[in-house]
Amino acid sequence: MAEETSSQHGTAGGAVPFYAPTGNEVALFEHAHRNRLPLLLKGPTGCGKTRFVAHMAARLGRPLHTVSCHDDLTAADLTGRYLLKGGDTVWTDGPLTRSVREGAICYLDEVVEARKDVTVVLHPLTDDRRLLPLERTGELLEAPPAFMLVVSYNPGYQNILKSLKPSTRQRFVAIEFGFPSPEAETGIVVQESGLSADRVAPLVRLGNALRALKGQDLEEGVSTRLLVYCASLIRDGMPRDEAILASMIEPLTDDPEVKKALLRVAELTLG
Ligand SMILES: Nc1ncnc2c1ncn2[C@@H]1O[C@H](COP(=O)(O)OP(=O)(O)OP(=O)(O)O)[C@@H](O)[C@H]1O
Ligand SMILES: [Mg+2]
Repeated sequence: MAEETSSQHGTAGGAVPFYAPTGNEVALFEHAHRNRLPLLLKGPTGCGKTRFVAHMAARLGRPLHTVSCHDDLTAADLTGRYLLKGGDTVWTDGPLTRSVREGAICYLDEVVEARKDVTVVLHPLTDDRRLLPLERTGELLEAPPAFMLVVSYNPGYQNILKSLKPSTRQRFVAIEFGFPSPEAETGIVVQESGLSADRVAPLVRLGNALRALKGQDLEEGVSTRLLVYCASLIRDGMPRDEAILASMIEPLTDDPEVKKALLRVAELTLG
């Protein structure tokens, strides 16, 4: 039985989710969409990739189907399968097929986790043929101009075996996401949490100090997502230092020594 791998948000006519651009990514997405080019987003966890896609789908007025890839995800999970319905077998489109039929944006998150048979399905869709063959139904779908495939991954924590093959990655226009400047990140966290800028600014400063430790003690630096969590907890009345421990220290490490070092950085940064 197929698990539900698709979710839909940012539908045409709905509110456009808040997204603060950090570079030329909005224009690049629009160019890619107009020119029927697939797009690859890479960047660390919690830096705004998913929010960006939701924002762009709403801006362009296209439905969005999102799939979180994992190593059990099969090509049929994306394209569709025959399901038993009251004694009949009925073909049911998967999120990729639905996106092609609707001229929607299909977003495959953490695409490097997907199995090889999934990438095989993507190849004819991501070159100038823009075709999706459905072997089971005998259909050959041609993607309409509005259809767009967006994939993302975090280059940080995959091993080399799990990176995308050149024949796959060279089918995409790509954007690298980083963390926003302190001013921009403060604005984002204020907007997302409702905490005032003067109380958010020190958290952003701490975030950047913790990011500087990445690679030495930490696999990944503190994300914008965690800064939003921290500010939301404080906004809700939690004491600042408790909120910092719960949202900016504990999620980063399990190592008691590293934790001590992070707490020391917090003390030094915040005074
Ligand atoms: N540029 C931005 N504009 C608005 N909100 C942002 C931005 N960057 C980050 N955020 C905030 O950070 C949160 C996490 O972002 P998002 O879920 O898009 O990260 P992601 O890059 O998709 O992470 P992951 O790789 O873990 O899926 C968002 O819910 C939002 O609150
Ligand atoms: Mg995401």
